[in-house]
Amino acid sequence: MKHTLIEQAQQVLRRNDRGTYTVPTHGLYPFQWNWDSALSALGFAHFDEARAWTEIDTLFAHQWEDGMVPHIIFHERDEGYFPGPDVWATGRTVPTSGITQPPVAGFAVRRMFEAAIDKNLATERAKALLPRIHAWHKWFSRSRDPQGSGLVAILHPWESGRDNSVDWDVALARVPTEGVEPFTRLDTHHANPAHRPTQSQYERYIWLVQNFRSLGWDSTRLHDASPFRVVDPGFNAILIRSCADLAELADQLDEPEIARQSREFAARGIAAMERLWSDVHGQYLCLDRTTGELIDSPSIGGLLAVFAAVPADKAAAIARRIDRLGDVAKFLVPSHDPSAAEFDALRYWRGPVWLIVNYMIADGLRHAGQHATVERIVGDSVQLIKRSGFAEYYSPVTAEPCGGVHFTWTAAMVLEFLAQPGAMA
Ligand code: GLC
Repeated sequence: MKHTLIEQAQQVLRRNDRGTYTVPTHGLYPFQWNWDSALSALGFAHFDEARAWTEIDTLFAHQWEDGMVPHIIFHERDEGYFPGPDVWATGRTVPTSGITQPPVAGFAVRRMFEAAIDKNLATERAKALLPRIHAWHKWFSRSRDPQGSGLVAILHPWESGRDNSVDWDVALARVPTEGVEPFTRLDTHHANPAHRPTQSQYERYIWLVQNFRSLGWDSTRLHDASPFRVVDPGFNAILIRSCADLAELADQLDEPEIARQSREFAARGIAAMERLWSDVHGQYLCLDRTTGELIDSPSIGGLLAVFAAVPADKAAAIARRIDRLGDVAKFLVPSHDPSAAEFDALRYWRGPVWLIVNYMIADGLRHAGQHATVERIVGDSVQLIKRSGFAEYYSPVTAEPCGGVHFTWTAAMVLEFLAQPGAMA
């Protein structure tokens, strides 16, 4: 069984391979997505190391001059996706979107470097990527933390990677809809509309895009001009972890200055993260930077915080909280608390399980020594695949597969999970 799953996962990756980048899935997402690529590279690394490095090289070949790495790269024209390059209008030769996504590349590149069989290739590719990833991290600090708080804000729900999480509801409601140019959604042609964001959310997503476009995508202006500015613990944990991992990698590649700066970013971030802790929920919460208030929404973002080296008592509390969620949800980890009124088992990021988040939470908990919870998360993830295939996401109640099918990063995570000792007989 394990063997068959590995073969199937490799087939999904091959099927979505476009030579130098992979699409998340055919149809629904026909271009290159930022954090999909970084995580998918981990899957390729199990059977084709050169192809894995190319995935990340291609992503960084489209990095902007200011250091930003865009969330979508529109390598080819495809009329089946909205909003396409004409809506973003970022003026790039190969069109890209103008916002970013969770910066998981620092983590992925260290992992690929240390696991590499071909050390020469790994050294050459990692050395070239190191300053580019560092430039992206510095961009975050400058453009998304202009007051130097130690934590960065996202300016669009799509930047979080958790597009329609309950976490954004209040802040997104403040985004106007007047002046939104008429549009036709195409996502609902590819996937069940009941699994996707609502129309009202979509109008606000597009308003933000239009607003940033009117500012010429100048990242020195976007932060203060955006009505949506949220500090997401999950997003920050990914950045902090990537900075810490980049520091380790820089030590190994003899780049002491990158190592020093990256360590400093990570240390400041970890210290600042404590501002987001909620004793009531036993997890971290988002902070609305426009009001200065914590957002009372117990989502998976605050559990993903454990991907960074948070204090041991906080990691233990997160493990306990996940264990309790496991008492109510059949499959861990639901993207929203099933006992909350807003929970929706099938709708995108408002309840379903996503294997990429499971993977990062399990990795963080393993570092924190929370092995029993890790075992349950890994076991549930493999169960979901066995029952429902390589879906985009799954119901935590019934394991029903949702969203797109033959999903690249889901397949990549399966290869990662199954490579762990004792994952499955
Ligand atoms: C959805 C997800 C996002 C992902 C993209 C491509 O928009 O919310 O996290 O990057 O699909 O898979």
